[in-house]
Amino acid sequence: MALPNQPQFRKKGSFRKAKALVIDMDDLYFDSQAEERGDTDYEGRILSTTYTAGEDDAEVSLRPRRMDDYIGQDKAKENLKVYIEAAKLRGDTLDHVLLYGPPGLGKTTLSGIIAAELGVNLRVTSGPAIEKQGDLAALLTNLNEGDVLFIDEIHRLPRTVEEVLYPAMEDYALDIIIGKGPAARSIRIDLPHFTLIGATTRAGQLTTPLRDRFGVILKLELYTPEQLALIVKRSATILGISISDDGAFEIASRSRGTPRIANRLLKRVRDFAQVQGKTEIDAGAAGYALDRLEIDELGLDNTDRHMMEAMIKFYGGGPVGLETLAATIGEEAVTIEDVYEPYLMQIGFINRTPRGRCVTRLAYEHLGLRPPVSDARRQANDQLKMFDADDTDES
Ligand code: ADE
Repeated sequence: MALPNQPQFRKKGSFRKAKALVIDMDDLYFDSQAEERGDTDYEGRILSTTYTAGEDDAEVSLRPRRMDDYIGQDKAKENLKVYIEAAKLRGDTLDHVLLYGPPGLGKTTLSGIIAAELGVNLRVTSGPAIEKQGDLAALLTNLNEGDVLFIDEIHRLPRTVEEVLYPAMEDYALDIIIGKGPAARSIRIDLPHFTLIGATTRAGQLTTPLRDRFGVILKLELYTPEQLALIVKRSATILGISISDDGAFEIASRSRGTPRIANRLLKRVRDFAQVQGKTEIDAGAAGYALDRLEIDELGLDNTDRHMMEAMIKFYGGGPVGLETLAATIGEEAVTIEDVYEPYLMQIGFINRTPRGRCVTRLAYEHLGLRPPVSDARRQANDQLKMFDADDTDES
């Protein structure tokens, strides 16, 4: 494939340093540019699914490093174990893997585990951090044989950069153009064999040519409260926090199916328990702290409630278009789609219809509001009233 002029392409190894971290599994992943890009911290929300500066050190120590320590995602995990073992038996690299699902479910963690199970290095970067073709070329040419390259938010890779990835994924090769005009010629540089792990919250936004080049596509699901309770117990042990089973379950059931939130809530609950002089976090202590944080028994915070109340107040419970809703509550449409909606849909509080988002009866009940009477039900009620009236007439 011919690439446009790239003056920074010189001989192998002379590329400028690209933005990636080499992870030796004892290191952590932290995208230092994320905040600058405005990707982090949904207004300091305690339920944010993004790491914020300062909390990643502790967070990483909570990350499981081997497959057997990784709780949940059983389907993905079991299949991955087979693919990893088969690749090792063949002495081959693992096929490229696409992980998709809502944020905070452990896509980075799982990539670290895959690299550890394969016994290779993990290099971590993200779609928006790779601005130019040269950035990706630098990353690829610096890989060692068998390494895993993890690209988070791969759907945000610039299209021109994506084109460099195709021959790299397919043929482990980099096609570059040397010179300009009629004298230009294309040369191919061989790359070490590597495994690309792409992670995205929006598989639908990936171009077909890119999606088709992944041999393994795995969807990560929101965790059940039972799985999250196990994660909370495990994290508490690592952090030296004493917590009862029902205390862990209380935190788990308010963590919207997301380990990152569960671990964050555990630390905040610990703060309250510590100040209250409690030696163990039980359900009461956890419930008290979470109430103080205004996280209700289903894990909804003020932002979730505000969004659903706005849908009810201004749009009769919906349908309302995503952009309209975003403008109404002053949020980004992508934040609503990636962060708020997955959980609200999972618990059956919001429906997506072709005409827009709708609040369900369950959500009305949770908010203590009376659901609107549907047309069909109103007609049935009217007919019942007519029967009642007939009965009275006859008597
Ligand atoms: N910490 C964060 N995610 C985890 C998981 N899936 N299993 C165990 N510990 C975790």
